[in-house]
Amino acid sequence: MTTRGFIRTFASVEALAAAAAEEFVRRSSRAIAQHGRFAIALAGGNTPRLLFAHLAGPRHRRQVRWDRVHFFWGDERTVPPDSADSNFGLANQLLLSPIGIRKENIHRIRSELGSDEAADAYEHELRLFFNLAHDEIPRFDLIFLGLGEDGHTASLFPGADAVGERRRLVTSTWVARLEMARITLTLPVLNRGVCVLFLVAGEGKAEVLRRVLESPPSAEYPASLVQPDGELLWFVDGAAGHLLRDGVR
Ligand code: 6PG
Repeated sequence: MTTRGFIRTFASVEALAAAAAEEFVRRSSRAIAQHGRFAIALAGGNTPRLLFAHLAGPRHRRQVRWDRVHFFWGDERTVPPDSADSNFGLANQLLLSPIGIRKENIHRIRSELGSDEAADAYEHELRLFFNLAHDEIPRFDLIFLGLGEDGHTASLFPGADAVGERRRLVTSTWVARLEMARITLTLPVLNRGVCVLFLVAGEGKAEVLRRVLESPPSAEYPASLVQPDGELLWFVDGAAGHLLRDGVR
């Protein structure tokens, strides 16, 4: 256990994905038993691919009461939902469609509205779904996050105003390096999660993971500012974790 949460290391990204699927199943059962539903925010990028495939696979799909699972996203790119770059599109292709998730359980970021309007619409949907009073923050049962090589998470990139946003639940942000606007949950929402679970795999993440986990929290590495009042878990494969102090075999 570190001040940055609990780190679990895995021999491979396949083992990491299988464990993340188990975590999803376990936490969905607990949340549904406790309050009748499981509100989850999915991570974007490529790392969650294997997780989605595991959840849609024969071993896990029958273990979850999918009609009680509500899918949200931590962030979205300003691309159409059927684009190969859409975070919703990837989850839809690998998980939502194969399982047959009802549309009323899918709360995607409607990026086709344009970044500012999509952020407003998503914030409104969060307030409605979680029945929030004006200054309340939604509490997701589980938030999956990835880690970018520059230390970003969701679409909270180093140097962006979005990293410092503390009033809004959702904001749009221009990512100069990608020459693209994005929509993202803000840190207050990420830090309200019952459980935040980072999925980090590959040699390319080794240096940034070491900095995030072994340096003081800093806006230079927005992922290091994710300090939820719930549980913080890091699922790391050997390639990403081999520079960590306690070493990862
Ligand atoms: C996105 C993600 C982003 C991602 C990291 C890691 O929309 O790209 O939300 O934060 O999780 O960049 O991406 P990979 O899993 O592809 O390495």
